Amino acid sequence: MANGKINRGLLPDVVLNQNEKGVAYEKPEDEMEKRIVLIMEQVLGFAPIGREDDFFDLGGDSLKAIEFVSKMHGDGIYFTLQNVYDHPTVRGLAEYIKTDNHLAVSLGDMDFTSVNHILEKNKMEYMATPRKENVGSLLLAGATGYLGIHILDDFLEHDDGIAYCLVRGKNQVDSKKRFEELLEFYFGDKYKEASRIKVVCADLQKDYFGLSKSEYSRLLSAVDTVVNAAASVKHYGSYQYFYEINVEAVRRLIEFCLESGAKLIHTSRMSVSGNSFADTFEGYVSETEKHFYESDLYIGQPLDNVYARSKFEAEKLVLESVQKGLRANIMRLGNLTNRFRDGAFQKNHETNAFLMRIKAILEMGLFPDYLMDLYLEFTPIDAAAEAIMTIARHFTVERTVFHINSTKVVYMDKMMSYFRELGCPLEVVSGEAFTDALRKTMEQKGQEYIFETFINDMDDDDRLNYDSKIRIENEFTVEYLRRLDFEWPDIGMEYLKKYITYFRKINYLEV
Ligand SMILES: NC(=O)c1ccc[n+]([C@@H]2O[C@H](COP(=O)([O-])OP(=O)(O)OC[C@H]3O[C@@H](n4cnc5c(N)ncnc54)[C@H](OP(=O)(O)O)[C@@H]3O)[C@@H](O)[C@H]2O)c1
Repeated sequence: MANGKINRGLLPDVVLNQNEKGVAYEKPEDEMEKRIVLIMEQVLGFAPIGREDDFFDLGGDSLKAIEFVSKMHGDGIYFTLQNVYDHPTVRGLAEYIKTDNHLAVSLGDMDFTSVNHILEKNKMEYMATPRKENVGSLLLAGATGYLGIHILDDFLEHDDGIAYCLVRGKNQVDSKKRFEELLEFYFGDKYKEASRIKVVCADLQKDYFGLSKSEYSRLLSAVDTVVNAAASVKHYGSYQYFYEINVEAVRRLIEFCLESGAKLIHTSRMSVSGNSFADTFEGYVSETEKHFYESDLYIGQPLDNVYARSKFEAEKLVLESVQKGLRANIMRLGNLTNRFRDGAFQKNHETNAFLMRIKAILEMGLFPDYLMDLYLEFTPIDAAAEAIMTIARHFTVERTVFHINSTKVVYMDKMMSYFRELGCPLEVVSGEAFTDALRKTMEQKGQEYIFETFINDMDDDDRLNYDSKIRIENEFTVEYLRRLDFEWPDIGMEYLKKYITYFRKINYLEV
């Protein structure tokens, strides 16, 4: 056994009755279980693995799970990473695959009447130019995140209130130190000892954010606007995990707003539309073409992805609370990319699904001809924060949902010419040639990630598919923002140069 790989030929023929941990070992029962066991053993690097053994208890982590799914896919057995989390044992996974038992989502049984009534107003026919409203003092949840910290930047630049930043930590000193390091990472010295920033050591998963009653009361009377940019943005995990962070924490922020009278700016994602290519890349393709407007929540989309599902539930909760007197706006964000002004990107860049695909394509140097109609959306983080805060500065309870995604998309032929000029040319090849090259990356050391990146995007014919047939519309928001003198910046050579240069500088891109 070397490098985590096992050689089946070296295994004893006799059936062992204990696994590595000395626990009774149950043999796989059928062909499907045998195939799963074989690949799980390769990935985890030891054998034998029994049918009741749990992938994660045996040392599997998210990276190993990706490798496992990728290898199973290579063996012709299709399931998603989420399925591994939901069914971590060989028996459970095999049962799931055999019965094709997909996550039961009963969105169709829910009542959307009151929500639809509120959303109705987010239409062109009700468009009106909003008046300026004071943002006042801010309570910022998710201040340490990529979006949160840029919202803070925009607030400090354009408003004059205090920013209370909720930051997790062991204690106040720990939270403050972590936050100061992040401020320095993103803005250098700009906010060193800024008196308008107040770090609050808090935990959104606890009642009253884990604060004492008196601290909580002080915030209730000090805050005028709450921005929620906190979320677990991991793509896989149990639904309970996502629910606690992405829905229960929102419930607490809503309670805070209802009690204090503060308005809530809640950030969400475009993938609530069912178009998972907008961020999570869990390829669902709708049978019919559907359009998703600011006046929509449920359009019959399936939401098998637990992350998108939790953000959907949070939106529903916010909109139902509007019915009860909450003053709230929801900002559905598109593909957040590098800062427009200088090309800087998020600290945890390795977790970004879009970036990983850009890297994989550039390092392969190939592009399939059947995707030449594709266009890419880049919504620079500083422009997104500015759009959100511009709307917050003109808050109205009549308009509730906005689509914060840049309209300045880049089509593939233009993108190729930019890449060429930046020294990373792509060769356009046939679908077959691309698929062959992709398969080969599985066997090339250091290139395996390329195949693993794309497995979730492939259709049954092994072709990459980025068309979910769910069209995200944003004319309403674009017109609303136009009236407020906001326009998305042009995404051209100037921006892409900063984009590529940044990733080369941090040694993420090797082309
Ligand atoms: N990035 C994108 O491309 C993108 C696209 C569409 C929508 N969005 C939306 O934008 C918002 C922010 O995303 P982001 O990209 O800025 O994410 P991010 O950089 O990962 O930041 C997430 C923030 O949430 C906080 N958080 C996570 N788990 C928490 C928990 N259990 N309790 C309290 N706080 C917790 C994090 O705090 P810690 O530092 O303590 O972990 C961090 O401040 C989310 O609503 C997301 O859905 C992002």
